[in-house]
Amino acid sequence: MYLRSARWIASVPAAFAWALHPVPAAAQQRASVRLEVKADHPGPKISRDIFGQFAEHLGTGIYGGLWVGPGSPIPNVRGIRSDIVAALRAIKVPNVRWPGGCFGDNYHWRNGIGPRAQRPPTLNPDWGGVIEPNGFGTHEYFDFLSQIGADAFISENIGSGTVEEAADWFEYMTSDKSTALAKRRAANGHPAPYRVNYLGLGNENWACGGAMSAAHYVEEMKRFARYTRNYNPAQQSPGTAMKRVAVGWDSGNDDYTDAVMKAWKEKNWAWDIEGISLHGYTIPNRWEKKGPSVGFGEDEYVKGIAATLKMKEWIAKQSAIMDKYDPDKKVGLYVDEWGIWTDSNPGTNPGFLQQQNTLRDAVIAALNLNLFMRNADRVHGANIAQMINVLQAMILTDGPKMVLTPTYQVYRMYVPFHDSAAVPVTFDAGTYSYRDLHLPRVDTVAARDSSGGLWLALINVDPNQPASVAATIDGAAVRSATGQVLTAAAVDAHNSFDRPNEVVPRPFGGRISGGQLLFDLPPKSVAVVELR
Ligand code: AHR
Repeated sequence: MYLRSARWIASVPAAFAWALHPVPAAAQQRASVRLEVKADHPGPKISRDIFGQFAEHLGTGIYGGLWVGPGSPIPNVRGIRSDIVAALRAIKVPNVRWPGGCFGDNYHWRNGIGPRAQRPPTLNPDWGGVIEPNGFGTHEYFDFLSQIGADAFISENIGSGTVEEAADWFEYMTSDKSTALAKRRAANGHPAPYRVNYLGLGNENWACGGAMSAAHYVEEMKRFARYTRNYNPAQQSPGTAMKRVAVGWDSGNDDYTDAVMKAWKEKNWAWDIEGISLHGYTIPNRWEKKGPSVGFGEDEYVKGIAATLKMKEWIAKQSAIMDKYDPDKKVGLYVDEWGIWTDSNPGTNPGFLQQQNTLRDAVIAALNLNLFMRNADRVHGANIAQMINVLQAMILTDGPKMVLTPTYQVYRMYVPFHDSAAVPVTFDAGTYSYRDLHLPRVDTVAARDSSGGLWLALINVDPNQPASVAATIDGAAVRSATGQVLTAAAVDAHNSFDRPNEVVPRPFGGRISGGQLLFDLPPKSVAVVELR
């Protein structure tokens, strides 16, 4: 199985060192937090693509997850599970990155088109060494996207594929001319060209995507960016054109980001990119023994929270490199793989990366989404790993059974932030202390949705103490604040097939007093409220 370099891992000691800062004893007692919202100062747009998903051919993410095949007794439309589609529609998934991941640099698209019975079984060497049946290919992917209402984000094979193969794939998908490839697409059931909003130029080509040096990758990437064209006539204007995302940050040294951005600054007319990626996983302990996904207490909870806060540093560092070459922030940072990565569920294939999903993971999801939104001028997209049954999943399935995870609930609560405008919030986070660790207690973001509604997301990281939040709203007359809160009795509370509603949102609101909005945030909770 693919292993990361030790440098990359957000090991616990490093994460804790980051979080350590001197805390006066008095501050540790304080459970009240003040925040000030500048409602009349609209900030950068928060792209809905920050709420993107990632679906790799890995474990049961695709097969058994979203794809059951047309002959299945599990209700489906053309092989795609109807219960999954309904759940994903409710969180308004903006885009789905596919087919990998490491799998993407092993994927040969011709194996996944044409009559399914004639498609060749191939291998999935990165993920469990299982057979890849190729039953879910290009047409099934686009059918799935149209059923859930999401855009395409295709990660092409630079590691083991050729420029010709990639160029052909994009001609096959997007051309409306009578070329042999476009006619083949029509013969396979789709005469109209497909729309591809994002092209991933490889995946982790510093490791599983071919272990290339940064300089080598840049030369390959330029050729692929040049020849992988989107011919769809509806995508030829600047507002509709496909965005190309190059591989960035390589496991702790910054060569890739620097080399790609330098090349971009010196580019000529023949190629371009609109984004660069950052992959950053939350590993509560260490790579070899990451820690359990369920059955833990405050110790593992705090390690997970401390490790995820590394994302702040990673974004700051990559943004600083990008600023050197692109001070006007034309190139977006795409955190197109992120999430908590724990030990696999006991008894499962370790190559399938199956883990339970708890209240801790919901807090982690919300902290990261808030961070991406706060950096929306540079972070143009993010894709949580991964959508179904893999790593920090939205949905778990077992045969016909399906359950929505606490992370899913956060995504549902955060829908109002899609394509909103950030609103500045200043706040004193307070401190949550555990043994000698001191973490910010409260986190918050505010934004105006497309119809002008003002929204606030609030997180209380502290698993023991409620937080009293006093908010001053400048520039808007607010009379009420209502919404939902997600919390539970235990940090590892989770939803199971037998008990699917252990962690679900409940009604929540604030009250007005002395010109302030007051909230009592329960311990270990995530709340989203609309201010009216
Ligand atoms: O998400 C699982 C794997 O993590 C992806 O395939 C790879 O890109 C990353 O290392």
